[in-house]
Amino acid sequence: MEYFLYILIAYLLGSIPSGLIVGKIGYNTDIREHGSGNLGGTNTFRVLGVKAGLIVTIADILKGTMAASLPFFMGAEEVYPLVIGIFAVIGHMYPVFAGFKGGKAVATSGGVILGVNPIIFLVLILSFFIILYLSKYVSLSSMVSGIIGIIATLVVGDYGLTIIISLFTIFVIYRHRTNIKRIINKTEPKITWM
Ligand code: G3P
Repeated sequence: MEYFLYILIAYLLGSIPSGLIVGKIGYNTDIREHGSGNLGGTNTFRVLGVKAGLIVTIADILKGTMAASLPFFMGAEEVYPLVIGIFAVIGHMYPVFAGFKGGKAVATSGGVILGVNPIIFLVLILSFFIILYLSKYVSLSSMVSGIIGIIATLVVGDYGLTIIISLFTIFVIYRHRTNIKRIINKTEPKITWM
């Protein structure tokens, strides 16, 4: 029963549609009707600018970190933070508060990993920006940094995290299906600021 409660709280946390809230309250804009239509940090940057993009990205990361830290703060040692984190990511992708149409799992997955292994999170961030610098594709950087994260957990021998990052990377790749098609067709937008 207790486990179920943690799962439910994590799902509801993940379901908070930061992009929708910031867009509607701050800018009277539904970001789902603009840009890529995705309810995530990247599309918020694209549609509403740096300030809104940063707020949404940080909020989406924190949803994952808070969910994964919940068992620790509640003193529930029997509850695995990574298992709870999965449900925050599911909430972010399929939010009950936004018609089950959410983001692409990147920031919230990163937030869960930040909550359990900040070093691996750093590896993810670094590889994300290196690939972004080289390719200029946010979507490609999101997917490939997940794969680098898997390798990093294997190198340090954190095999529990290997399983969870693999799952998150599958989520991320699945949610980027249209981006993958656009990359192949050379129609995926590139960033211009780097
Ligand atoms: O975090 C999502 C990003 O990788 C791609 O977003 O809006 O370009 O589809 P978008």
